[in-house]
Amino acid sequence: NKGKYEHYMQKEIHEQPESLTTTMRGRLIRGGSCKAKSVLLGGLKDHLRTIRRSRRIVFIGCGTSYNAALAARPILEELSGIPVTMEIASDLVDRQGPIYREDTTVFVSQSGETADTLQALEYALENGALCVGITNTVGSAIARHTHCGIHLNAGCEIGVASTKAYTSQIVVMAMLALAIGDDTISSQGRREAIIDGLFDLPNKVKEVLKLDEEMKDLAKLLIAEQSLLVFGRGYNYATALEGALKVKEVSLMHSEGILAGEMKHGPLALVDETLPIVVIATRDTCFSKQQSVIQQLHARKGRLIVMCSKGDAASVSVGGSCRVVEVPVVEDCLQPVINIVPLQLLAYHLTVLRGYNVDQPRNLAKSVTTQ
Ligand code: F6R
Repeated sequence: NKGKYEHYMQKEIHEQPESLTTTMRGRLIRGGSCKAKSVLLGGLKDHLRTIRRSRRIVFIGCGTSYNAALAARPILEELSGIPVTMEIASDLVDRQGPIYREDTTVFVSQSGETADTLQALEYALENGALCVGITNTVGSAIARHTHCGIHLNAGCEIGVASTKAYTSQIVVMAMLALAIGDDTISSQGRREAIIDGLFDLPNKVKEVLKLDEEMKDLAKLLIAEQSLLVFGRGYNYATALEGALKVKEVSLMHSEGILAGEMKHGPLALVDETLPIVVIATRDTCFSKQQSVIQQLHARKGRLIVMCSKGDAASVSVGGSCRVVEVPVVEDCLQPVINIVPLQLLAYHLTVLRGYNVDQPRNLAKSVTTQ
């Protein structure tokens, strides 16, 4: 049932304040006079000690689920102190890459039925790793075959392009990082700030959804383009990849997410006065580096659309020449949840304006159960 919406993708983008609320329900402890704020993940509590002792955490997934894990990687590294590596499921299987008994492998999948991810899970089980599942589908193959896990509780996702599952996945993995780091006194202040940020996140998502009309106007400007680049780094490297994936899979416009630190190692050659480029430059420790990226792209006459923190337009728009999208500020590690929303809206509007099927993009299936 699409309710007041025209398409499932549109509905699922707009219901993110609610889906995030249900993802967090009962899992965040507000704390009190003598009790610290904390996170409770029922499905994991008997395994946290093993996870804390593992030599490495390996995130494994495909497409949007992989991107969500990439978004959560920095906070997991920071709070756990354990090395975190990333694997695209098919590539791990192709390489038969090393997985050890001392590893914790985390399988991220909205459907819980993706063939590549399932095959990687079988492989990790054979190699004796602890296998954790993060899925949205209770009773799915990945939920059943992993040793333990966390459900997204984001509600059924029908649009082929994953939207609300992505933001819930990031939140679940941020909660995972909080739970693993829970025994470290030195990071308690940081963890409490993130928990406060999580409580407030649904409100901030409501706020960023108000950019809907603005993103529709931007889509009108971009409707006839051949290509769109998206530059991000740090917490928002994943936002660049995921924003580009949304645009290409539904609007059928070529789009590429680029790690801004790689700009001079090739992508800069593409920049001219015609190619539109989105640069994500919200406030975090990478901000000044992104300011410099903007200046260098501007010097090559790039057509820039800059996403920045509210109030920062003047600090990112060189000579007032960029189009600027201002987003609400949240705790740095949660900012990818906010920053993807305008790009989801852009992909949605571009698709509708270009006349393509937004809920059922050509050649794609919701759940990729064959290889
Ligand atoms: C993109 C998209 C796909 C899926 C991928 C993995 O919008 O939906 O990239 O994310 O096929 O699917 P799950 O998460 O079900 O394993």
